[in-house]
Amino acid sequence: MTQAPETLPASNDPCWCGSGRKYKRCHKGTEGRIQPGVISPMRYVPDTIAKPPYADTGVVPRYDESRVKSADVIERMRVAGAAASEILRRAGEFVRPGITTDEIDIFVHDLTIEMGGYPSPLNYHGYPKSVCTSVNEVICHGIPDSRVLEDGDIVNLDVTIYLNGVHGDTNGTFAVGNISQEDRNLIRVTEECLWYGIEAVKPGVSINEIGRAIEVHAKKHKYGIVRAFIGHGIGENFHTDIQVLHYYDPRNTMILREGMTFTIEPMITASGEFRHKMWDDDWTAVTADGSRTAQFEHTMVVTSDGVDVLTAGPGAVSPCAPWNR
Ligand code: MF3
Ligand code: CO
Ligand code: CO
Repeated sequence: MTQAPETLPASNDPCWCGSGRKYKRCHKGTEGRIQPGVISPMRYVPDTIAKPPYADTGVVPRYDESRVKSADVIERMRVAGAAASEILRRAGEFVRPGITTDEIDIFVHDLTIEMGGYPSPLNYHGYPKSVCTSVNEVICHGIPDSRVLEDGDIVNLDVTIYLNGVHGDTNGTFAVGNISQEDRNLIRVTEECLWYGIEAVKPGVSINEIGRAIEVHAKKHKYGIVRAFIGHGIGENFHTDIQVLHYYDPRNTMILREGMTFTIEPMITASGEFRHKMWDDDWTAVTADGSRTAQFEHTMVVTSDGVDVLTAGPGAVSPCAPWNR
């Protein structure tokens, strides 16, 4: 039996799955949670596509990249950012009940290559797929597999393209069919959190103002902010040393300077939980209490008087941030 029955056994009774083990040592607590599916073999990228240094080995080399970028790097990041934005938008339109997350991976993989880029996640520290697909209580880095998306699921798609020698990183959470009002609120507020963080970005300001702005908004809704995963510097390398916490930390005092490029990518939980657990695959992070979670991400550059969001796409701004309604 693969589906749990309506009435669950007592802790010390045999598990409903037929394993013969006690329920408490077997499926207890897994009902209603996402289960890992089958991961298909790694997909191929043609030799005509310029690849990042880890593509063939899975080993990410030590980098030496300045936090403030040249005009040339920023221009290339603008192009990569626009491409990432388009891929995310089209992948989001592709989401519907009945498809597997592996089919989303094929879609993103092929579209990235069609646009002349390499899907940055593929073989990054050995990650086996071209996009991260994080369903319901999965916080981030969910691996596309044979699991079928069901009506009422929410799924985060995290797209990164390596194009012209630089990375563009963006993600968003999408509804699968009809979702609950609670899930709609969670998704809306999470995107608002991202944009409150973005609004805090200006040269001369401490980087912890980003986390402060996000925390104020999440707390207003009694939501939790996942602590273990943070925004990051980005450029010729996927992840560089700038650390963008999504909550306020007085020790996080780096001053933002014109030309710095990084992501903001808050992961917000419905229950207020801020801790995570890892699946045995060592990639998939889930909320410790099984609560649903949403995430949105943009890549940006600090300008002379504010911020330029490189992955915002045409029309530029969040459809749901309060100042755009
Ligand atoms: N795109 C993710 C981020 O926002 C990183 C994914 S790493 C991978 O930082 F290996 F899981 F792809
Ligand atoms: Co990122
Ligand atoms: Co990302």
